[in-house]
Amino acid sequence: MKALNVGIIGCGNILEAYMKGSQIFNQFKIKGCADLYPQKAQEAGDKYGIKAYNTVEDLLNDKDIELVINLTVPKAHGEVDKAILNSGKHVFSEKPLGVDLKEAGEVLELAEKKGLLVGCAPDTFMGGGLQTTIKLIEDGWVGDVFAVKVNIIGGGPDNWHPNPEFFFQPGAGPLLDIGPYYIHALIAMFGPVKTVEGVSFIGNDTRYLTSPPERRGDVIKVETPTTNFGIYTFSCGVKCNFSYSFDCYGGTKGAPIEIYGTEGTLFAAHPLAYEFTASLKLRDQEERVIPNIYPCVDTMRGLGVADMVCALESGRMSRVTGELGYHTLDIMMSQYESSEKSMLVEVKSTCEKPKRLPLGLHLGEVDV
Ligand SMILES: NC(=O)c1ccc[n+]([C@@H]2O[C@H](COP(=O)([O-])OP(=O)(O)OC[C@H]3O[C@@H](n4cnc5c(N)ncnc54)[C@H](O)[C@@H]3O)[C@@H](O)[C@H]2O)c1
Repeated sequence: MKALNVGIIGCGNILEAYMKGSQIFNQFKIKGCADLYPQKAQEAGDKYGIKAYNTVEDLLNDKDIELVINLTVPKAHGEVDKAILNSGKHVFSEKPLGVDLKEAGEVLELAEKKGLLVGCAPDTFMGGGLQTTIKLIEDGWVGDVFAVKVNIIGGGPDNWHPNPEFFFQPGAGPLLDIGPYYIHALIAMFGPVKTVEGVSFIGNDTRYLTSPPERRGDVIKVETPTTNFGIYTFSCGVKCNFSYSFDCYGGTKGAPIEIYGTEGTLFAAHPLAYEFTASLKLRDQEERVIPNIYPCVDTMRGLGVADMVCALESGRMSRVTGELGYHTLDIMMSQYESSEKSMLVEVKSTCEKPKRLPLGLHLGEVDV
């Protein structure tokens, strides 16, 4: 397969992980990058030995680039995704697919009209740890799954991200920023979500930036809920109890995803990474760690892009579809709506459950 030429828009914090991760994939090659600030693109170009475009338009006008990875901040995702599609290129967007459903829907409609593919992060559910977890569920190790508990409780990004303001604006918060990792993983396990009940609120409205050192003490304006609790019911009947918070500095001692079945409990591999492992506690047995049955390493950002390229080549469905990104956003927006109206909300959209990766892959492969 000839490697597809890929461009990047948005040269911030997460770019390095994509540049490192992409090294293990031969399905695509990152050729160049652009940013709102030309000097950021230039610095990235020099650091990674790729072409730095002076403007986003210059990158979009380059006929050699066939797919663009959108690594801008959430409020720019929709606008940048549409510009990419209008230039005739496929897009893989960081999450969320948009800051609201209107914007995300416009991206999907435009892609359909242009005959182009949209993919949406996160792709960590395709990592070895979660694919092994999914195989254990499919093979019935915990019997019939009836409930799941998701625990995303922490102190937020104000002490590690160089520009953490966007995490506290609409389009982020723990629900839209971290929720997609867990929701994509759970859709890959149990399929789409039917109803959502939730409460969302700001637990701590006075936040001080503690990174980088020269900005220590700057006040961060909190403009989106920072603690969210919810009950999601999947179409298959499984019920999930979700907690997401940026307000709890002590974190949590609970496992990120606990899956309860009639024969035991499965502690899923951590959905924020690719290579963590699952563990299994069956009734009357000691808990044991289950080694991953898929090849994986710590940073595999770009796995979803590799999957899209293979889907384009073979005509099969990709695992990181725009519909998955849209349904995930719809679930999260339904949580906010449920909180505002104090009622159970029916999720209007749906999506296909992404297919588990086949066994027998080598590192970097997504098809046998
Ligand atoms: N930082 C992480 O650990 C991390 C992890 C996973 C996913 N993400 C996601 O990746 C995206 C980027 O995160 P980040 O941490 O790299 O943010 P960042 O603020 O460090 O970088 C964003 C970059 O996008 C550029 N940009 C903003 N609007 C633009 C526009 N309209 N056109 C062109 N460039 C534009 C900014 O100038 C900046 O260089 C976010 O959606 C975030 O949720 C981040």
